[in-house]
Amino acid sequence: MKLLIIGSGGREHAIAKKCLADPEVQQVFCAPGNPGMQKDGIDLIAIAESDHQGLIDFAIDQQITWTFVGPEVPLLNGIVDDFRAAGLPIFGPSKQAAMIEGSKEFAKEIMVANQIPTGAYRSFSNSREAKAYIADKGAPIVIKADGLAAGKGVVVALTLEEAFDAVTAMLEQNAFGESGAKVVVEEFLAGEEFSLLAFVNQEKVYPMVIAQDHKRAFDHDLGPNTGGMGAYSPVPQISQAIVDQAVREVLRPAAQGMIDHGTPFIGILYAGLIATAEGPKVIEFNARFGDPETQVVLNRLDSSLPQIISALLADEEPEIVWNNQASIGVVLAAEGYPGIYQKGMIVPTEAPDAAQLYYAGVATSAEENLLVANGGRVMLVEVTAQDLATAQTGVYQVIDELTLDGLFYRKDIGDKALRLAKEI
Ligand code: AMP
Ligand code: GLY
Repeated sequence: MKLLIIGSGGREHAIAKKCLADPEVQQVFCAPGNPGMQKDGIDLIAIAESDHQGLIDFAIDQQITWTFVGPEVPLLNGIVDDFRAAGLPIFGPSKQAAMIEGSKEFAKEIMVANQIPTGAYRSFSNSREAKAYIADKGAPIVIKADGLAAGKGVVVALTLEEAFDAVTAMLEQNAFGESGAKVVVEEFLAGEEFSLLAFVNQEKVYPMVIAQDHKRAFDHDLGPNTGGMGAYSPVPQISQAIVDQAVREVLRPAAQGMIDHGTPFIGILYAGLIATAEGPKVIEFNARFGDPETQVVLNRLDSSLPQIISALLADEEPEIVWNNQASIGVVLAAEGYPGIYQKGMIVPTEAPDAAQLYYAGVATSAEENLLVANGGRVMLVEVTAQDLATAQTGVYQVIDELTLDGLFYRKDIGDKALRLAKEI
C-alpha cells in the first residue's frame, strides 16, 4: 500500500506513523506535513490542503491506494467529494456530512431529530433576541459561534455580563467573521468531559477507546481555550456503562440520523461529551480525528489502522482490537499561545526510547538542519505504560530532561484521572 495523509499536525503525524507500522504499507506521504514527521520515515509532499486538484493529480501519479483526511477544513471544502468524483478512494465524510462539525446549528438539528441527549439551546443571528433569551435563562450559560473557529469560538460564561459580551463580540463586532454570524446559546452542562470517537461506515459504528482532552491553556483548567494541551486514555473516572450508553444514545443514532437526513457519514465521527448526572450529553460533534486525542488513542490500537480503513472502504467488517495500556500526551506550545507567540526557537528532537515525539508547528531552520518552532502547538510528548500513574511519571520525566526554549506545557495532564479514580 502507498498512502496519502492530508494535514500537517501532530494528529497527522500519529496517523501516518501508525500506518507505516503495518508491513504491507510501503510508503506514507503527508501533504503538506511538517519536517518533524520525516524522522519517522514519512514522506512530505508540498501540496496545500486546499489544492484539491494538485492532490488528486498526485494521488493518480503515485498510484495511491487511498487517501485519508486529518483536519476539518478540507472536509468542509469538499475534498472527499472531489476525490470521489475523480474516481479515487478516500476515507472521510462528504462536504454535506462534515456539516455535523461545520455548523453547530445543523448538529443540534440532527440531535433533536434523533433524540440524542444534548444541552437545551437556541440559535440566533439577532443580538437583542439572543440577549433576551440569555437574561431569561440566567448564567452560567454557553455561547458558541455557529461555524468553525479552531476551538476558540466557545465562551463558557459564568456571569450574564460575560454572556452578553460574547454575543456582542460575535454578532455585533464580527469577532469570528462569518463563523460567528449566527450563535448557538446552550445550557451549561456540569460533569466530566470525554471524547468518544468511532470509525463510521454509514449505519455501522465501531467505537474507539475514550480519551480526555485539556482545552484550557494552563494547569487546573485555567486560561484561554486552545486547540488542546494534552490528552490521556483510558479515562477511568468514566465507567464502561457510561461509554456504552453514549455509543447507544449518541453515536448509533447520529450515524442513523445522518442517513435519514440524506447525508450518510463515512469517516471518523467524534463526540465531545459531558457525563452529567442525567447521563452523557453531547457538547460537539467533529467529523474527524481529534488532536491531541489521536496521539494517545492510536497507541491503544493493537490492530492495523490501514487494514481497518481498507476494510471500511471495501464495505467489509474491520478487525479492531484495543489494548489495556495507558497513554498520556503532553503538548509543548510556544509561549504566548493561543495569543500572539514567538517562532524560531529550537525544538527538541531527541528523547528516550520510551517516549514518542509527535510534531505539529515546526519548520526546518534555514542555516542548520534543526527543527524550529513555527506554530502555536509545537509538538507532543507521549508515553505509554501499563497504567496511567506510570505513564504520567514517565512523560514528565522525559519532558524534564528536554531543553525547552520558549515553550510551555501543562503539568497536570492525567491528574484528574488519578484523583477521581481514587474517589470512585
Ligand atoms: P468545544 O470547542 O465545543 O469543544 O468547546 C470548548 C469547551 O467548552 C469544551 O471543551 C467544554 O469544556 C466547554 N463547553 C462547551 N459546551 C459546554 C456546555 N454546554 N456546558 C459546559 N461546558 C461546555
Ligand atoms: N481535541 C479537540 C479537537 O480536536 O477538536
